Amino acid sequence: MDGYRCIACTETQAADFAGFVCPSCGGNLDITYDYAKIRKEFVPGYDYAPFLPVSRLETPFPLKIGKTPLVAAPRLGEPIGLRNLFLKDETSNPSASTKDRASAVALRRAMDTGAETIAVASTGNAGSSLSCLAAALDMRAVVFVPESAPVAKLTQALAFGATVLAVRGNYDDAFDLCLKAAAEFGWFNRSTGYNPFTREGKKTCAYEIWEDLGRLVPDRIVVSSGDGNLLSGMWKGWCDLRAVGLIDRLPKIDCAQSENSAAICNTVRHTRGQGDLNPDWSQVVMDEVKATTVADSISVDRPRDGLAAVKAVIQSGGEAITISDKEILAAIPEIARATGVFAEPAAAAPWAAVKTMAQQKKVDANELVVCLVSGSGLKDITNAATAAGRPLTVDPTVEAVRKKMRIV
Ligand SMILES: Cc1ncc(COP(=O)(O)O)c(C=O)c1O
Ligand SMILES: [Zn+2]
Repeated sequence: MDGYRCIACTETQAADFAGFVCPSCGGNLDITYDYAKIRKEFVPGYDYAPFLPVSRLETPFPLKIGKTPLVAAPRLGEPIGLRNLFLKDETSNPSASTKDRASAVALRRAMDTGAETIAVASTGNAGSSLSCLAAALDMRAVVFVPESAPVAKLTQALAFGATVLAVRGNYDDAFDLCLKAAAEFGWFNRSTGYNPFTREGKKTCAYEIWEDLGRLVPDRIVVSSGDGNLLSGMWKGWCDLRAVGLIDRLPKIDCAQSENSAAICNTVRHTRGQGDLNPDWSQVVMDEVKATTVADSISVDRPRDGLAAVKAVIQSGGEAITISDKEILAAIPEIARATGVFAEPAAAAPWAAVKTMAQQKKVDANELVVCLVSGSGLKDITNAATAAGRPLTVDPTVEAVRKKMRIV
């Protein structure tokens, strides 16, 4: 890395800058690289170390992070006419979400800075992820979650030995409290978006999709968004590859949000409505909502990496798609039955969005579309059960099975 650039006002900082956000405007920072140097050094393969802003990559991480499967999903895509649909199945990460990519890089950064305690605000997955990786590295994690976070995510964090603070309030309250507490107690703050290193971890997913497709750039990647960091990370990965000349075109990045938590999609629409594809980003006002979606991971009032996500959707020419909670829940068993991949509600949202795009003729039959499945269905069984239905209860007799299954 060679420094930082503010997403909003574009002011730059040197590589030894010790803060988290832009000292001029408070905007989130984007880490910058000497791409000319990387171009000379980089050997494609699965070692993307030159594209990462941390120094401890020589220490192999003790868990298997990333290198997740890209799953062809013909039986999912064909009924709506899509011939080239894939799922990037992030459920196989150690804590069962894509957040592990961000935690890995943020933890290495924390080690570089000599920090011992790492704090994070989380809807649940960033917290369970940080707890998991901190346990592997014998570091201390403090996790701020909304009281209502799904019990599986809380239980993961507790089992990994983190201090879990269930905040009486929503994710936004947890985020603000984590900011204050980390400043007060001198903890390293891994919170999404605020910490520029999380985006750098998430971008590795783009490199893998490119490798998995035999060095092909897909037409679109559909990403579900709450804070928008996952989406901006995905975009950054492709921009990195282009900056060093490995690819010459970029995919569209489509944003999937619940209509009950749509701050990023709303902002994309009103910014696009003004007709300028490269406006003064420091003047873009992010929409704020009162989020109520059942997809807890993407239930966010004030997206903490919203501007970067809005920029990514607009610059990539992607769509901003909102779907109902009902459509999100229905997508869980649809994906599971057609592919064997079990998604939590937020992770099923991209498929729900693709169906909407197909209905609205926003995606062509031959486009190569990748849906990011960002977290496991086991993380929120209550909502999955609503969509998956109930078992058939039978007496322990063959006759009862015959009757219940209507076998004649
Ligand atoms: C499973 C899952 N999908 C999607 C997201 C959205 O990521 P972001 O908040 O960076 O937009 C999250 C974030 O918690 C998540 O856990
Ligand atoms: Zn700034």
